[in-house]
Amino acid sequence: MAFQDFDHISERRRNERKQKERKRILIISVSVVVLLLIAASAAAVVVNKNQKESSHSSESDNPSSSSSSSSSSSSSSSSDSVKQVSKSQKAVKTICAHTDHTKTCEDSLSQEVASSASAFEPKDFMKAAVSVVAHSLNKAMDQSSKLKANTPEEKEAYEDCMTLLKDATEELNSSVSSAGVNNIKTILSNAPELNNWLSAVMSYQATCIGEFPDGELKSELEKTLTNTTKHTSNALAIVSELSAILETFNTPGNHRHLLASGSSMPSLDEDRLPTWMTAEDRRILKERAKEPHQDDPTPNVVVAKDGSGKFNSINDALAAMPENFQGRYVIYIKEGIYDEQVTVTKKMENVTMYGDGSQKTIVSGNKNPGDGVGFLQTATFVAIGKGFMAKSMGFRNTAGPDKKHGVALRVQSDHAIFQNCRMEGYQHTLYAQTHRQYYRSCLIIGSVDFIFGDAAAIFQNCIIHVRKAQDNQESTITAQERADKRETTAIVLHNSRIVPDDESGADKTDFKSYLGRPGKECARTIVMESDLGGLIDRKGWQSEGDFAIKTAYFAEFSNKGAGADVKGRVKWPGYKVIDKKEAEKYTVGAFIQGDSWLNQAGVPVHSGLLN
Ligand SMILES: *[C@@H]1O[C@H](CO)[C@@H](O)[C@H](O)[C@H]1NC(C)=O
Ligand SMILES: *[C@@H]1O[C@H](CO)[C@@H](O)[C@H](O)[C@H]1NC(C)=O
Ligand SMILES: *[C@@H]1O[C@H](CO)[C@@H](O)[C@H](O)[C@H]1NC(C)=O
Repeated sequence: MAFQDFDHISERRRNERKQKERKRILIISVSVVVLLLIAASAAAVVVNKNQKESSHSSESDNPSSSSSSSSSSSSSSSSDSVKQVSKSQKAVKTICAHTDHTKTCEDSLSQEVASSASAFEPKDFMKAAVSVVAHSLNKAMDQSSKLKANTPEEKEAYEDCMTLLKDATEELNSSVSSAGVNNIKTILSNAPELNNWLSAVMSYQATCIGEFPDGELKSELEKTLTNTTKHTSNALAIVSELSAILETFNTPGNHRHLLASGSSMPSLDEDRLPTWMTAEDRRILKERAKEPHQDDPTPNVVVAKDGSGKFNSINDALAAMPENFQGRYVIYIKEGIYDEQVTVTKKMENVTMYGDGSQKTIVSGNKNPGDGVGFLQTATFVAIGKGFMAKSMGFRNTAGPDKKHGVALRVQSDHAIFQNCRMEGYQHTLYAQTHRQYYRSCLIIGSVDFIFGDAAAIFQNCIIHVRKAQDNQESTITAQERADKRETTAIVLHNSRIVPDDESGADKTDFKSYLGRPGKECARTIVMESDLGGLIDRKGWQSEGDFAIKTAYFAEFSNKGAGADVKGRVKWPGYKVIDKKEAEKYTVGAFIQGDSWLNQAGVPVHSGLLN
């Protein structure tokens, strides 16, 4: 085998895992019953408690708007149904007290309660919170469609914006369908799914506004989306609060991590990775010898430049994918440089592409915003359809070091996997836009903010090559874009290595680089169990002025190498050296629920921490 990965799971381990899995399922089934009982009583407590308390809500936003609907209905009445409504209205206050936009939450949920014929139960609140987002989003879409763009820049941004909002509505439908379940248990076991979809919905809205040139149109859009972003944040808060209520009641015997499924699972591979971080491996990463694709699945179609396949271009192969194809649609792309802009659309689910090696099969482009297209349209390769997987191929944007947004790869696909791939560019090489993504043994090359976006993206066993930035710029590796602290997104570098790019000049230490900076207010980036080269500035992290230094979350855990000393790091409230327990939250199992979908896909993975 030319490319060697080190996480082979032996048969014995697999069996051990199966056993543990069985045991775990048993424990879960038992604890779910317990939880349901607790949930029922917790809800009762909530309602009772509220009946006794005179309700004082903390009105954290919008103090001018009225709360008549909830206060008027609490006046006593002999009728049962009125009492019922009153109970529900009080539960609204309790639930909304956990959100960041309390008033907005109370107003919207009260309306839902008032318009509902039957009594509200906890599960109904979740459903209601999501459908409030849907309504508000539809309204915002409607209003935005009436806005007019004037300048070319505005037109481009506006187009991007409409695309993003459309994605938001469509993807919200996915969370509506997972929230539309009949009991609290299902809602809770769906919490990671709900968080995933709602985070994306939040991200699309924030990106829509964030990319807009300042001006009247931008403020209009911002106004239009204000309510929707608040509702989305609230819905996210309610998902996590419902989970938290139940977690409080979890006793140690009841498997504390029921909800953060996987974090308590043993890692798949207890062996320490051997000599992975050596120059030799780097060589291996760079060339995949021409051996038969013994591990690769039989392709449905073959793409080849020389006419030896069914298609000459990747787009043709995608276009030929049957609608409603079941299973994995596998495209083998033979060696060659493919100068095309490729999009794996929302309809194209479970597409696998593999090439002859990341330096042999390359998709290449050079689009950048200077070309009169919105930044979403600059990416050489875009993956949107769920379950996309790429292996042994390269993605490039050759726009050059002085161009903004020369995106080589943009990923919006949930459960996306990239293995043994190479992403090459300067600024903004890899846009890990939304949803759960896993990068394994990839090489990522860039100069400024070159891993960015608002996905829950884990880079494991990857090598990151930093190119020197232009003279007026500072080189930063990541620019994570979490807009709201309730989103369950982050960029995680795990067991990876950061080194200067080979081509950056003979003197490899003539520039400094930062691990990251905040792309948005609540940016979250974790670098753990990684090897940080001496090019990492002792401050570690960078921000313009004081932007987000309190609200961002930048964390390091157990790194080594010449750039790993945390003594000289920034002293921001948002920067932390975290302990093992905290770091575990950002592992593949816990953070992107990778145990199921990554194993299914047969990709090597380290589920937990290495040590
Ligand atoms: C969302 O789902 C509803 C019904 O479930 C449907 O009417 C609506 O068109 C969908 N919206 C989008 C944008 O897909
Ligand atoms: C936002 O919500 C408030 C209160 O529900 C409402 O008065 C206002 O019109 C809404 N704004 C927009 C732009 O829809
Ligand atoms: C894609 O794969 C997932 C996981 O195997 C599966 O649940 C889903 O139904 C597949 N989708 C299609 C359209 O085949």
